[in-house]
Amino acid sequence: MQIDLATAIPEAADTIVVAVEEGGKLFPAAQKVDEAAGGAVSRALNTGRFKGKKGQMIDILTPEGMAAERIVTVGTGDYSTFRPLDRQCLGGGVGAHLNKVGARHVAVPTSDALNVCDFVHGMKLRSYRFDNYRTKLKDEDRHTVTQVTLVADDLAGAEDKLARLNHVADGVFLTRNLVSEPANTLFPAEFARRAGELSKLGVDVEVLGEAKMAELGMGALLGVGQGSERESQLVTMKWQGGSESDPWLAVVGKGVCFDTGGISLKPGAGMEEMKFDMAGAGCVTGLMHALAARGAKANVVGVIGCVENMPSHNAQRPGDVVTTMSGQTIEVINTDAEGRLVLADALYYTVTTFKPKQVIDLATLTGAVMVALGTYQAGIFSNDDGLVDALVAAGKDTGEELWRLPLGERYDKDINSDIADMKNVGKGREAGSTAGAILLQRFVEGTSWAHLDIAGTAWVKSDEAITPKGATGYGVRLLDRFVSDHYEG
Ligand code: BES
Ligand code: MN
Ligand code: ZN
Repeated sequence: MQIDLATAIPEAADTIVVAVEEGGKLFPAAQKVDEAAGGAVSRALNTGRFKGKKGQMIDILTPEGMAAERIVTVGTGDYSTFRPLDRQCLGGGVGAHLNKVGARHVAVPTSDALNVCDFVHGMKLRSYRFDNYRTKLKDEDRHTVTQVTLVADDLAGAEDKLARLNHVADGVFLTRNLVSEPANTLFPAEFARRAGELSKLGVDVEVLGEAKMAELGMGALLGVGQGSERESQLVTMKWQGGSESDPWLAVVGKGVCFDTGGISLKPGAGMEEMKFDMAGAGCVTGLMHALAARGAKANVVGVIGCVENMPSHNAQRPGDVVTTMSGQTIEVINTDAEGRLVLADALYYTVTTFKPKQVIDLATLTGAVMVALGTYQAGIFSNDDGLVDALVAAGKDTGEELWRLPLGERYDKDINSDIADMKNVGKGREAGSTAGAILLQRFVEGTSWAHLDIAGTAWVKSDEAITPKGATGYGVRLLDRFVSDHYEG
């Protein structure tokens, strides 16, 4: 979906989108279109069930003499309550509708170009598809909208804003592509190669293989990958958009390219979903893309631990004890609690190497967080109330919401082991997400830290306003917003 700007509705546009508030008040640009269409828009108001409620739509065939084929009128409900996210969601709904009716080139006339950029951004986010492996796409599955033109007399600032939003959308799409990709094609080395492509944008990418990680003593991360034929990789992506003296933000992602559970093998039903177990790392990579592409004036380093958790004659066993880079030892009670093992080393490496002001990790860490929060909010765990407030606020603004869950001394005791410094599970089904988070906390060396458990939010099974079913790209827009609000002047 290409987006461009113009001061008049292009002749080539087959569809014009206009908006009306509940109660029938046409927006100024809609009034003009209505006049050009001989009052066809105002006549359509209040026909049937169309009342201009938020997201309601009515298709009007244009009268003779108009270049466009149809006018799609969308209701906004009470527009005075709208935030940017509401405009994005409205755009997402309209975008899906336009593809259903077969629109190709869509014009969106407005007297408020800056705000309507968000509407077009929503159309774009919803337009995502992953069709790489479909050789016979059915006609009704094919998206028809290829061009959207934002039309306004005054386009001041719109070009810059759209460019920025497009870079963020590209980051979200990169994340969705990575997360959608099956594990036979996206294994750790391939993930590292794709991350390496960010160097074209000025990101400094470094890849550590198993030999280097062994030298650093990353026994926990390496233990998870040891049952796999695929070599584990630790990838660092550095974007220095700020000045030398600016603090660094670090973002760390769980990159389990496939999670079979290892010797603690998962049940077969639904196991295919575990290709998404690298969504944290996917988010970090998409975020770095967005930040670099839009030239964020901030210093951000992304670190992803990429492994494959497989059972084999080489696999680690339940009961094994591994020594982490920090020197702390972990008894591996359950080889399926592998994400925390990967992150223990990735987090410790990150905080000791880059000494960031803050570190945020993202991981599809526990099934328990889905039980607690479903797919609408991710769990956040943190040792810093201010960081929680900032992230929760960014979540509300972007719709990538967060709900805080607890840490604390009593939960910490639950992961003590009889034969090592800790074990990788807590009290079974009780507080399962906290048990994972509290282990991570032991590896951040007191750095201001937040852990986002995105097991519920990284994938959805049905379409949402700006997110088609499948990989959501959760976290890219959230953290782009957080960086923009707290690291860029
Ligand atoms: N990747 C899974 C978490 C997960 C499970 C995400 C189901 C989405 C759906 C993680 O590695 C895992 O297996 N966690 C275990 C931990 C347990 C063994 C302590 C879990 O949640 O069951
Ligand atoms: Mn697992
Ligand atoms: Zn996992």
